[in-house]
Amino acid sequence: VSRTLCFVTDQASLPNDYDMTPLVDACQEVGLDVEVNDWDDASVDWARFGDVVFRSPWSYLTQLPAFLDWCERVDSVTTLRNPLPVVRWTLDKHYLADLEAHGVPTIPTAFVESPTDVPDVVDTLGEGDVVVKPAIGAYSHGVQGFRRHDRDGLTRQLHRLLDSGQAALVQPYMTSIDTLGETDLIYFDGAFSHAICKESLLDPSGVAREPTQDVRSARKPDADEHATAERALDAVATILSLDDPLLYARVDLVKDEHGAPRVHEMELCEPSLSLAFSEGAARRFAEALSRRLQQSA
Ligand SMILES: Nc1ncnc2c1ncn2[C@@H]1O[C@H](COP(=O)(O)OP(=O)(O)O)[C@@H](O)[C@H]1O
Ligand SMILES: [Mg+2]
Repeated sequence: VSRTLCFVTDQASLPNDYDMTPLVDACQEVGLDVEVNDWDDASVDWARFGDVVFRSPWSYLTQLPAFLDWCERVDSVTTLRNPLPVVRWTLDKHYLADLEAHGVPTIPTAFVESPTDVPDVVDTLGEGDVVVKPAIGAYSHGVQGFRRHDRDGLTRQLHRLLDSGQAALVQPYMTSIDTLGETDLIYFDGAFSHAICKESLLDPSGVAREPTQDVRSARKPDADEHATAERALDAVATILSLDDPLLYARVDLVKDEHGAPRVHEMELCEPSLSLAFSEGAARRFAEALSRRLQQSA
């Protein structure tokens, strides 16, 4: 069995992958043999690798069926990390409902599956501003904020997402994010590694910015945040019947009006890991990768 590891990216996304360089360096330091390849490069023989690890194949967003086909093909010849069932689950924000059903506090979320759902959802909204997003999205694409009075704008955006073949989510705008930002906790092999604060990405007009490096800073999570993120990871293990802890995971939290953390997002496929914000983070991930590669072998 191959001892070579492959990190998966694509040409358009690699320049935005701030983790790749420190990660490849750390892997070389721990003696791992690493290659970086584009998921959409048809010339790659994926069976050559011991493990194929998603890092930044972010172009999948506009070509999801092709990406999932690729995942299945690679899964049949080598080991995908995280595994395919985890990837499928985490790519679609319907997982928020699964987490909620398992007792994990999440941002209250209404799901809009078809045009007939739109009036009901719009009519039952509370008093505050709201956020609309596609069920499958990343990098803030398609995320938009609406003032509570702007029912027309909200309705139009929901129909626009549905017309493009996407289910949509509507959430209350979590106002704590304006002052506290969100807390993103990163785990390797089930163990907490580090966390960052990410500033609010929605500007007052409702447009979402991309999560560039300058909106991030190191953060020490409080005990409630640790506990909530761990509950979320335990729930995933139950929901997906996982035997091992996830090789890598990111749990994003925001605080509600009572100061309690709620899961905003779980990134288990191709998360930005903000490795640069924590001394030793790249090394910790490289060591976890090395242990897994030995298990695969
Ligand atoms: N319910 C919400 N309340 C306040 N801000 C939100 C909410 N949902 C999303 N945002 C803002 O929009 C950004 C992108 O939304 P997110 O759900 O993280 O989607 P993506 O999968 O694209 O990262 C978040 O980082 C946050 O700043
Ligand atoms: Mg996000």
